[in-house]
Amino acid sequence: MAGAAGSPEKTWSSRTAFILAAVGSAVGLGNVWKFPYEVGAGGGGAFVLIYLVFVFAIGLPVMIAELLVGRRGHAAPPIAAETVAAGSQRHKSWAWLGWIGVIGAFFVLSFYSVIAGFSLSYMVETVTGRLGDLTPEASVKHFTDDIGGSFAIVFGWHTLFMVLTVFIVARGIKGGLEQAVTYLMPALFVLLVGMVIYSLSVGEAGKALQFLFQPRLSDLTTDNILQALGQAFFSLSLALGAIMTYGAYVPRDYSLPRSAFIIAAADTAVAILAGLAIFPLVFQYGLEANAGPGLVFITLPLAFAEMPGGVIVGGAFFLLLSIAALTSAISLLEPTVSWLEEKRGIARAKAAVWGGLAIYLVGIGSVMSFNVWSDVTFWRGTVLDNIDFITNNVMMPLGGLGIAVFVAWFMNPEAVRSEVTGISDRLYKAWLNLLGFVCPVALAAIFFSVSGADRL
Ligand code: PHE
Repeated sequence: MAGAAGSPEKTWSSRTAFILAAVGSAVGLGNVWKFPYEVGAGGGGAFVLIYLVFVFAIGLPVMIAELLVGRRGHAAPPIAAETVAAGSQRHKSWAWLGWIGVIGAFFVLSFYSVIAGFSLSYMVETVTGRLGDLTPEASVKHFTDDIGGSFAIVFGWHTLFMVLTVFIVARGIKGGLEQAVTYLMPALFVLLVGMVIYSLSVGEAGKALQFLFQPRLSDLTTDNILQALGQAFFSLSLALGAIMTYGAYVPRDYSLPRSAFIIAAADTAVAILAGLAIFPLVFQYGLEANAGPGLVFITLPLAFAEMPGGVIVGGAFFLLLSIAALTSAISLLEPTVSWLEEKRGIARAKAAVWGGLAIYLVGIGSVMSFNVWSDVTFWRGTVLDNIDFITNNVMMPLGGLGIAVFVAWFMNPEAVRSEVTGISDRLYKAWLNLLGFVCPVALAAIFFSVSGADRL
């Protein structure tokens, strides 16, 4: 069963391909949509600072551990976790760790695709000049009534986005995933750097830099801190199957800590660059930095509407956001597909279509949360709010906690050491301590906090 992952088709063809794919997974809506609005709502520099600490002290150690379980298990997450556990000190079934990943990724993609659909829709609307004379009221109305309020529109873009995702994943690791990231990641990088240069030169660069990098620690609340921790995990694609699945395709001679460091650093750089692309414009046009989830879809279009050449700049921005979302979406579909392939023996293309279809159908619940079911609320809110809460506040911290505890406390120590190559003994010890003590406490804190009701 794990044999399928061992076939040459199921390994990355180069280190660069692996890094590009993993950075593609990490860089997504989380960086370009969520991070800036969380920074805006969380008071700026203080949020950025604490976020950086979380990425490197908590996210990075868990990423190394997750890649490790994937590579050592060499299969889809539940099989990988089970296989690795069988060789551990205290035998016990850890398949649930993998299941959290597969199921978590399944549900995250169901709504991720809906938000990504908004980005596609805004891209087309900006380029066709339909957002050319937007007033603040019109922008709110446009998002909540015209686009968000229309079942047909949200449904249509969700459909298109899922079709694109399935198409890429169906073509396999080398023919699909690697091909896609080889073209899309450089395009994303060029668009982002272009946006940042433009924004810093025409916008309020000084104010934006101050906002992002001058920490006023008094701005930090417990909620903010937990939000930053959750965001670090989400942005690094942790504990939701993606990194474990990508880890399964990593050849034995790549250093996991080094790769994880590059991935985390690139992901963080993109989040900060997204802030540098957005905030100079927000300040330049006297807009609100703390608009929350509407920052990109309601506030930013106002800047595009006013600036000269806003059609091009705005179109480029939403193209960037859509590309970022697509390379993350393929990593959210891959865990389901690799499981169907390896455990059920279903051919990849078929697995991609069936897995994608199931996710797409669940996603219709999130599509409806914006329109026909916007009044149907229970527990945490709409269907979308509930799926978001369960995945982000329950499955993700639980999965992360499980990975950290399993690798630090249950796996055979020699096996762990043999996987974590390319770093000194001192660094190795530091990693084990972070993983075994600090990460579990931090993740338990997210799990037991009831914040997050206001997510999305
Ligand atoms: N990291 C992605 C983003 O920032 C989302 C994601 C989470 C992708 C978990 C895969 C797994 O948008």
